[in-house]
Amino acid sequence: MILDRRTVLTGAFAGVLALPAPLRALAADDVTRVDDLIARMTLEEKAGQMTCLADSFRPYNPPNPAAGIQDEKRLTDEIRKGRVGCLFNGIGVVGARRAQEIAVKNSRLGIPLLLAGDVIHGLKTIFPVPLAEAASFDPALAEKTARAMAIEATAAGLHLTFAPMVDVARDQRWGRVVEGSGEDVTLTGLFAAARVRGFQGRDLRRDDSLLACPKHFAAYGAVAAGLEYGSVDISDETLRETHLPPFGSAFAAGALTTMAAFSEINGVPATADRELLTDLLRGEMKFRGFVFSDYTADEELIAHGYAEDERDAARLAVLAGVDMSMQSGLYVRHLPDLVKSGAVPMATIDVAVRRILYVKTAIGLFDNPWRSLDENAEKTRIATAAHRALSRESATRSIVLLQNDGILPLDPAANRTIALIGPFGEDRDNVYGPWAFYADPGKGVDIATGLRAALPDAARLIVVKGCDVARPIDGGIARAVERAKNADVVLLAIGEAQDMSGEAQSRTTIEIPAAQQALADAVAATGKPVIVLLRHGRALALHDGVANAQAILATWFLGSEAGHAIADILFGNVDPSAKLPVSFPWESGQEPFFYDRKSTGRPVIDNRTEYRARYATTDNSARYPFGHGLSYTQFELTDLKLSDAALRWDRAIEVTARLTNKGKRKGSEVVQLYIRDRVASRTRPIRELKRIQRVTLASGDSMLVRFSLSRTDLQFVGTGSRIIAEPGLFDLWLGQSSVDGLHTQFTLYAQEATKG
Ligand code: BGC
Repeated sequence: MILDRRTVLTGAFAGVLALPAPLRALAADDVTRVDDLIARMTLEEKAGQMTCLADSFRPYNPPNPAAGIQDEKRLTDEIRKGRVGCLFNGIGVVGARRAQEIAVKNSRLGIPLLLAGDVIHGLKTIFPVPLAEAASFDPALAEKTARAMAIEATAAGLHLTFAPMVDVARDQRWGRVVEGSGEDVTLTGLFAAARVRGFQGRDLRRDDSLLACPKHFAAYGAVAAGLEYGSVDISDETLRETHLPPFGSAFAAGALTTMAAFSEINGVPATADRELLTDLLRGEMKFRGFVFSDYTADEELIAHGYAEDERDAARLAVLAGVDMSMQSGLYVRHLPDLVKSGAVPMATIDVAVRRILYVKTAIGLFDNPWRSLDENAEKTRIATAAHRALSRESATRSIVLLQNDGILPLDPAANRTIALIGPFGEDRDNVYGPWAFYADPGKGVDIATGLRAALPDAARLIVVKGCDVARPIDGGIARAVERAKNADVVLLAIGEAQDMSGEAQSRTTIEIPAAQQALADAVAATGKPVIVLLRHGRALALHDGVANAQAILATWFLGSEAGHAIADILFGNVDPSAKLPVSFPWESGQEPFFYDRKSTGRPVIDNRTEYRARYATTDNSARYPFGHGLSYTQFELTDLKLSDAALRWDRAIEVTARLTNKGKRKGSEVVQLYIRDRVASRTRPIRELKRIQRVTLASGDSMLVRFSLSRTDLQFVGTGSRIIAEPGLFDLWLGQSSVDGLHTQFTLYAQEATKG
């Protein structure tokens, strides 16, 4: 499987999107039905269609501050009056039917409700957090897990998920890194498209098709200093080159909705930014679906200092291009009057309502308002054994082997005592990860349970906590040290609690909490071999007793099957094959840090460090770079060849190399192709990922990997926001991470030079 970046860039900018396929397929009578409804709707009913409220028929406790209507009786009344078009964050077929019946049978026009929810990494079966899954570098895997999530979500009475998050996250202090696919634009685009395809399936009208809502439009991941809800100050070029392409990929894959970001860009909150939500999104990117506000984000225009009051906020948001207001209720309260007073044209409202009704039509809601409300499906399609098995597979494929002096894999049959030390050994509260609020608490497999199931003699596993996540325990370290001394090997289960990443979890440092670091240092001082099992929703800066361990596994938040998956990797039932989607820096203070940074005029070369672009105390490289990840076998790349050292303007070149499994075990490697444009009219990154290819090889086997590159792969956003490729010299690396690889060069020849 070869994946490329071309669709990512051209998808966003070359105007190839036009109408997404699902809307193109609307029949003429669907369009007539929508027109007819709009002609009959009152202003209040139109504003109602544009309103999405928390589902108090079947409430859950999502991580949102309390706001708006919170009781079923009032909500019933609102639906009956046609003042609500969408409910969100409730699950359960019985409650959903109750709500839908009111809309369909008791409201004047009988327009069905759209039922939405945050199914980010699973409903009942919890899959690895999206960042972890991105480490698989295998979008096809994410497509499969998204399909499984969609099957569960629709069986629980949902039509739409507020996912995938496709924000490129360049600063690990930002807690929402965990919800996306990391720091790279290409990888994020590939996963964005795969997840949209997985959620929506092939036919939107099927009762297991779940609408996707790629979010948060746009550049939410670029908030200054990683501060949640903060400001974004960004050039148009960087916005277009780094943050928009994954949205382009998601739309090209068929996404029909998106969500405006909470943050402001260059002084204008996204929710009120007409240039962003209308000119760019609809004009240039040809997006044809509808835009949600984020949770009460229209109301927040007041706190931003952008709107005078609620009425003004509703006006600004609707004029900017927000079609559906989430949770504030501002639209239904103020739009009718805003239209009557002439402040908002009726045409703006009609366009928004039409977009929303088209999406409802596209999923067959008018023909069958009871779609995805089937109690039998609810009983049989949720938390199935097949989903559990897929969760385990995905979890094992998400674990990154960061370092290994040869201690791993462990032989489960070896007669040795294993001390499992740290707050996460038997913990079940931090197995799933954030955004798993529909899942049954405590049903995830903790590490100790996973290990015991894999060990012939479970009694050889000794578990001791040592400390809490953020606090020492009286005598905890002493007990842990004693157990370590009596053991043959230590597994150190440390890192972040699940509420330390996710929304509103920005941190100033990205380190192991002090109490755990003290535990790790004390255990390391025993001299026993230590294997670190990191738990985390972001890249971390590791130090001392943690960093110097014999082996380190990045295990993120792996979901329902975490413990089993960790055992699978530790004992070598599965060979680790994941790669880092985020760079692990040496120090927190290096953030924002990403591999595709600029050279500067004074790069560090040949270890010359004085008056160079580095911190006085720290080299500005990564401890574990983007794309890094070891295996239990060894792969070697040789024989890098180009079909031609000249790339002609309208041709392609072939890149080939031989990958050999030199080790003793079967394994998988992700071959990564990077380029660098040596001289350009806007400086280019020191490396940019263009292609990935996963290869599985038996011991001793080898295979030719093959890629094709053309001019469009070399394009970038030049000054004036034009998409250009510039003739000249390019570096090319084929490697196993963003800092290694075989190197060669080629030249892109100008159109003129290649004529004839
Ligand atoms: C988040 C969104 C989420 C919404 C609904 C907001 O706080 O930013 O990502 O979809 O809540 O729960």
